[in-house]
Amino acid sequence: MIEIKKLVKQADNKLILKGIDLSIKQGETVAILGPNGAGKSTLLKVMATLIKPTSGSVTINGFDLKKDHFKVKKLFGYLPHSSLLYDQYTPLENLVFFGDLYGVKDVELRARELVKEVGLSFFINEPVKNFSRGMIQRIAIARAIIHDPKILLLDEPHTGLDQGAISILNNVILSMKEKGCTTLMVTHDFKQAAEICDRIIIVKNGRVAEDFKVRNNQLDFVSKKYQLQVEGVS
Ligand SMILES: Nc1ncnc2c1ncn2[C@@H]1O[C@H](COP(=O)(O)OP(=O)(O)OP(=O)(O)O)[C@@H](O)[C@H]1O
Ligand SMILES: [Mg+2]
Repeated sequence: MIEIKKLVKQADNKLILKGIDLSIKQGETVAILGPNGAGKSTLLKVMATLIKPTSGSVTINGFDLKKDHFKVKKLFGYLPHSSLLYDQYTPLENLVFFGDLYGVKDVELRARELVKEVGLSFFINEPVKNFSRGMIQRIAIARAIIHDPKILLLDEPHTGLDQGAISILNNVILSMKEKGCTTLMVTHDFKQAAEICDRIIIVKNGRVAEDFKVRNNQLDFVSKKYQLQVEGVS
């Protein structure tokens, strides 16, 4: 479904991505692990069409990310480090605004459902600027899925969430997976990666260093592979 070929990204004379090759099937839930500065967020940004690659290609269901930009863009739901929300707006206003951008039908109903799903109905009419970090992250998750994307690109989605919100997020990812949605999740949280993902990719120094499947919550297996690959511990 997603084919990434020889993807290179250079910025300010620095090679950030040094030739990434990846093939991801529909419905896969993939965790992208790796040390700070490895190029994980850059990879997600290229896929979300926020930045252009220097060379190489990304195709989604046969459509080229560069050439068929408008066709593929709406397939993505992107949750970056920052929330992208408008501070002075309420959760409802934010979600209706973003839903409208994607042409979501019955957008207000959908927005209300999502606010409920992320457990913030009580705050539906409160400006986002009064929210805690975890509350903002909950609404940011709702924003990323308002248009029912086919591919979720999540950059450290568990950051700042309490246990309840972690369960909500994991349930969102798993129920999207049941609908055939593909997820790429950058994370430093091995526990969440092992719990909800079926494949782990380790990015190191702009390259894919490891790519393996996981089953049944193999946290130890993931940690060992990471230590071996990134920290050189055997
Ligand atoms: N626009 C840019 N111009 C120059 N260098 C950049 C740019 N964007 C990112 N970089 C550099 O590319 C490298 C990879 O950055 P990236 O944000 O992709 O890392 P990451 O793997 O997501 O790290 P973290 O785990 O800290 O979030 C870093 O060294 C960063 O400084
Ligand atoms: Mg990052």
